[in-house]
Amino acid sequence: MEDIAIVILAAGQGTRMKSSLPKVLHSILGKPMLFYPLRRALELRPKKIVLVLGHQSEEILAKVATLFPLNNIEVSIQSEPLGTGHAVLQALPKLLDFKGTVVILYGDTPLLESETLQKLLICKTEKKSIAFITSTLEHPDGYGRVVRQNGRIVEIVEEKDCLPDQKLIHKVNAGIYAIDADFLKEHVAHLQNQNAQGEFYLTDLVKIGSKTGRLSSVSVAPEEIYGVNNRKDLLRAEEILKSRMANHHMKNGVTLHNPMQTWIEEDVQIDSDVEIYAGVRLAGKTSIGQGSKLFEGCIIENSQIGADCVLKPYTVITDSIVGDKSLVGPFAHLRPQTKLGAKTKIGNFVELKKTVMGEGSKASHLSYLGDAVIGRDVNIGCGVVTCNYDGETKHVTVIHDGVFVGSGSQLVAPVELEKNSYVAAGTTVTQNVPEDALAIARTPQVNIADYSKKRRSKKPLKSRI
Ligand code: UD1
Ligand code: MG
Repeated sequence: MEDIAIVILAAGQGTRMKSSLPKVLHSILGKPMLFYPLRRALELRPKKIVLVLGHQSEEILAKVATLFPLNNIEVSIQSEPLGTGHAVLQALPKLLDFKGTVVILYGDTPLLESETLQKLLICKTEKKSIAFITSTLEHPDGYGRVVRQNGRIVEIVEEKDCLPDQKLIHKVNAGIYAIDADFLKEHVAHLQNQNAQGEFYLTDLVKIGSKTGRLSSVSVAPEEIYGVNNRKDLLRAEEILKSRMANHHMKNGVTLHNPMQTWIEEDVQIDSDVEIYAGVRLAGKTSIGQGSKLFEGCIIENSQIGADCVLKPYTVITDSIVGDKSLVGPFAHLRPQTKLGAKTKIGNFVELKKTVMGEGSKASHLSYLGDAVIGRDVNIGCGVVTCNYDGETKHVTVIHDGVFVGSGSQLVAPVELEKNSYVAAGTTVTQNVPEDALAIARTPQVNIADYSKKRRSKKPLKSRI
């Protein structure tokens, strides 16, 4: 196949968003809108990508840099939005030496699918100058109409330039093209702006292509060409993407009990026989292993969950790893760099941060474990706290295999609990505990006889309530 270069047009003002944020940075299913055309572009393995930006270009580029490596993404600035033809002209200096096919995408058309672009390229390869995407819309208002004569496409006429009978045409231009680089370079600089909008229309290339007979088109479902112009469009695009993701995963053997209330972002991987309940959010680069169950309200971001895990309701996991057959939640919080081994158990109101826990270890209730290295088969009792921060520096707590930490204990880091040691409930551990030893640090208890009785007799009854 020929070399490919991609031009993404995103210099429009996006005024209808009524926002200080550039339109293409508005979020759809957890990603800025521009992520989607960029991802589709990268999937085609192009020689280069040229992003045509207008105002707020630095802000847009800074965001793009957080999503993709910038090595083959170049930027052309269109200082005034004089039309789609003019926008593409701004990209040409970056394509001077390029021979092959130039694919034009829009920054605000996030629902286009990879398969469609493949079809477009196949269409273009048969020695065509230009191939473009069309769709049939029930309400074609605002779109350029695909005009035919004797069955052959002859031109695209913008809505504002349409004759009354052309307005009745339902076949519209999507604005996505594959164009021969030489053809593009030859013609795009000569486009004229004598039209209703006084703009340089890229669509005029279709008319030129049709004259030489080297024109073809691919028709797709309306939702794919859906462009986002305002907040309502944004919501609709998100709903469409959500149901697309849900269908994709259900096809792969995932049970979704409430797909429209489940948030699954594009980069998420889910193995078969996973079961997901309402209100679950799977974000970033997250993967879920086979047979795991995620109950209501779990929020998992950039994390790997192993096979056959159960995440009970309202568990929040970020940048962490959970080993196979583990049980987490309800209401557990795994903060970044937590790594749980297989068959671990993290119960309600337990928070872990930058903590590694070995196979079979448990922290079942109300604990904070931060900067800790915990071995296998360790039992962390209820309410145990690692005191990892002295106000200046974070310190590490090391707990070796088989240790039992009694409820209500504090482990003042840096401290190490050797293998099979035992910490009595309510102990504040400030020194290392040797292997097999018991650490106990409590003030000896004193029982004062009849204290409570005497106290009660001194006070009037109501003040005791
Ligand atoms: C364009 C097409 C129309 C098609 C429609 C599909 C032309 C003349 N018309 O119309 O046939 O049906 O898309 O959505 O091409 N942009 C720039 N610089 C500009 C103008 C636009 O970068 O000077 C970018 C926008 O940011 C956007 C894309 O090009 O990403 C399309 O621009 P828009 O103004 O929405 O084009 P339409 O008039 O809708
Ligand atoms: Mg538009």
